[in-house]
Amino acid sequence: MATKSLGVVLNGVTGRMGYRQHLVRSILAIREQGGVELRDGTRVHLTPLLVGRNEEKLRDIAAQHDIERWTTDLDTALGDSGQQVYFDAQLTSVREKSIVKAIDAGLHVYTEKPVSETLDGALDLARRARDAGVKNGVVHDKLFLPGLVKLRRLIDSGFFGRILSVRGEFGYWVFEGDWQSAQRPSWNYRAEDGGGIVVDMFCHWDYVLHNLFGRVGAVTSRAVTHLPHRWDENGELYEATADDAAYAIFELDGDVVAQFNSSWTVRVHRDELLELQVDGTLGSAVAGLHRCVVQPRAATPRPTWNPDLPDTTPYRQQWQDVPDNVGAENGFKAQWEQFVRHVVDDEPHPYDFLAGARGVRLAQAGLQSSAEARRIELPELTL
Ligand SMILES: NC(=O)c1ccc[n+]([C@@H]2O[C@H](COP(=O)([O-])OP(=O)(O)OC[C@H]3O[C@@H](n4cnc5c(N)ncnc54)[C@H](O)[C@@H]3O)[C@@H](O)[C@H]2O)c1
Repeated sequence: MATKSLGVVLNGVTGRMGYRQHLVRSILAIREQGGVELRDGTRVHLTPLLVGRNEEKLRDIAAQHDIERWTTDLDTALGDSGQQVYFDAQLTSVREKSIVKAIDAGLHVYTEKPVSETLDGALDLARRARDAGVKNGVVHDKLFLPGLVKLRRLIDSGFFGRILSVRGEFGYWVFEGDWQSAQRPSWNYRAEDGGGIVVDMFCHWDYVLHNLFGRVGAVTSRAVTHLPHRWDENGELYEATADDAAYAIFELDGDVVAQFNSSWTVRVHRDELLELQVDGTLGSAVAGLHRCVVQPRAATPRPTWNPDLPDTTPYRQQWQDVPDNVGAENGFKAQWEQFVRHVVDDEPHPYDFLAGARGVRLAQAGLQSSAEARRIELPELTL
């Protein structure tokens, strides 16, 4: 069997996403399965070179997972002739300059979202990558969630008829950090460190909406910092300068209206941490991370409003489960395989830096809409 090998520089693997989703559940899982299979049966083996700031942590991770090479010097890693791909899961605020270095070194680049903190920065990266002729991609993991895969299938089958609206509910309570530690890193709550729920989540909502329902043509949003103080990893009180909740309306091409609540200051009374309700002329669906239920037009009950009597209608039981039908794979691993095939076999990769820039623009417009209390229109984005 023919094999190829691909040197992959992995920066930020000591972090939450870099370690768990990208190193362990993607790169090492791919190593375990014997590489990425191409169309002609060739298998591509990924050879990781870890990069980070903390020598001790890197050494430990490398030893624990039997990885030969690591360094605390990015330039050394990028200058190594055996490397073809650079991956970035660092803190968002330090991403852009590392990616510029990787492009200048001629490496293909795959990165966590958001690709940059600003639209100008994201477009600059997209142009640099295009001009240097390097392949580029941004994580778009939510499209791989089993619940959203089922939603895609429903859309493709014509189940909804004309789609009218989408309602997204995302969030959970992130502990303040005083009497219980926070479940997310403290930088997420400091604007000066690239934090904020709009910057974090709107780039996800952009590709979810764009790929499933239509391009986002306008946004109206209200971003709020509900909790002005939190406690960090060392138990120190800090000022939470970033938004921790956002209430937004996205207007999509095709007259679909999408309304999303995103919040780290909400307690969950839902079946899953993300739920999307889609209503169409012929049927409705509610999709979460895993499950998806439907109610077709012909099986729609007739609710009647009567505040004088307790409501005993079992509304949730009036929906039907959409079956999995296909086995679910880790979405991060599936995206890595997609990107490797793009690099080695030139397979299409729809989620490039320009798509990433579109997500950054939606976040930027969401913050602007909130600050200026107005609706922001979003023309088609081009390089
Ligand atoms: N796709 C998703 O669903 C998803 C989810 C969470 C986070 N993210 C993205 O992943 C990235 C990392 O988030 P995380 O939650 O893993 O954060 P984290 O704080 O756990 O990890 C951050 C990483 O960056 C490194 N780092 C921190 N400060 C640095 C600095 N000044 N210079 C260089 N490196 C530095 C850390 O050592 C660590 O390796 C962010 O860009 C975030 O937006 C994506």
